Amino acid sequence: MRVALVSATAALGTDDDEAFLLPALRAAGADPAVVVWDDRAVDWAAFDVVVLRSTWDYTMRRDEFLTWVAATDAVTRLRNRPGVVRWNSDKVYLRDLAGYGLPVVPTEFLSPGDRPALPDGVPFVVKPTVSAGSRNTARYAPGEQDVARDHARRLLDRGRTVMVQPYVASVDERGETALVFLGGRYSHAVTKDALLVPGERATEDKLFATEKLHAVQPSAAERAVADAVLDAIPFPRDELLYARVDLVLGADGEPAVLELELVEPSLMLPQAPPEAAGVLARTIVALAGPDRQER
Ligand SMILES: Nc1ncnc2c1ncn2[C@@H]1O[C@H](COP(=O)(O)OP(=O)(O)O)[C@@H](O)[C@H]1O
Ligand SMILES: [Mg+2]
Repeated sequence: MRVALVSATAALGTDDDEAFLLPALRAAGADPAVVVWDDRAVDWAAFDVVVLRSTWDYTMRRDEFLTWVAATDAVTRLRNRPGVVRWNSDKVYLRDLAGYGLPVVPTEFLSPGDRPALPDGVPFVVKPTVSAGSRNTARYAPGEQDVARDHARRLLDRGRTVMVQPYVASVDERGETALVFLGGRYSHAVTKDALLVPGERATEDKLFATEKLHAVQPSAAERAVADAVLDAIPFPRDELLYARVDLVLGADGEPAVLELELVEPSLMLPQAPPEAAGVLARTIVALAGPDRQER
C-alpha cells in the first residue's frame, strides 16, 4: 500500500519525525513517500492513505489548504479527517473547549473591525488564530501596549483574527507539556522550553521556531485534562490518527490547554519511546487494511 506523508516545499527535510516514521512504515509493509500538498503533479488517488505531517505553510493560505484537503479526501483517505482539520486549523476552537468546561489559557479574540483592547499591568501575548511555529507571535511587557497594538492592528488589517492571552509565567520555568496520542491512545509526552523572548518582535519569515524538547512523564492532572479534551471534542477519539495536547500550568497551578493540535503537529518521535513510530505506522496501514475503515 502507498502512503503519502504530506509536507510543504519550505519544510522538506525539516520534519524530525520522518526519520522514524518512514522506516516504521516500510517495516509495517507500506510504501511511503514524502510529497508536497500544493504540488500539482501529485496523483493523490494513487495513495491508499494521505497523512498530513509538515504542511506548516497552510497558515498563510488556509482556504486554499482546506479546499485541497476536501478534494484529496474525495479520492483517497486523508488523515486527520477534513472536518477535524477545518475545526482545528483556527484557534477559535479554544472557545469551544472552554465552552465544554475544559481549562483553557484565558483568551480574548479580536476580529477585523474590533478595537484592540489589551490587558493592563500584566505581560501578555498577541498572536493570530491561524498560526503555527510561533509565527507572528510575540510577548509584551505591561508597558508595551503601543507596540502590541500595532502588531494586533497589522494582523487585523490583513483580515486575520487575533488572540490575546496573559503571558503564562510558568512557561519560563517549566515550559509546556505536549501529550501525544496515536489512534486516540496516549503514547508519550515531551516538554518544550519557552519560545517567546521578551522584547523580541514577532517574526513572519521563519516557518517554525527551533524547539528544545525533552521526554517527560506527565502528571496525573495533565493526563486527565488531555483525556478530557479528546473526549469532549465533536470527533470520535479513536478516529484521530494523531493528536497532541499542549498544556501549561496556569496561575492556579493547574494544567490549562494552550493548544490542541490535530492538523500537522510534530509528534516528537525522536523523544518518544522506540515503539511509538511502529504504533503510528501500523495504525496508518490498518486504515487501508482488509477490515479497513470507511473512507
Ligand atoms: N499565553 C502564553 N503564555 C506563555 N507562552 C506563550 C503563550 N502563548 C504562546 N506562548 C509561547 O509561544 C509559543 C507558540 O505559541 P502557540 O500558542 O503554541 O502557537 P503555535 O505553536 O501554533 O505557533 C508557545 O510554544 C509558547 O512558548
Ligand atoms: Mg504551539
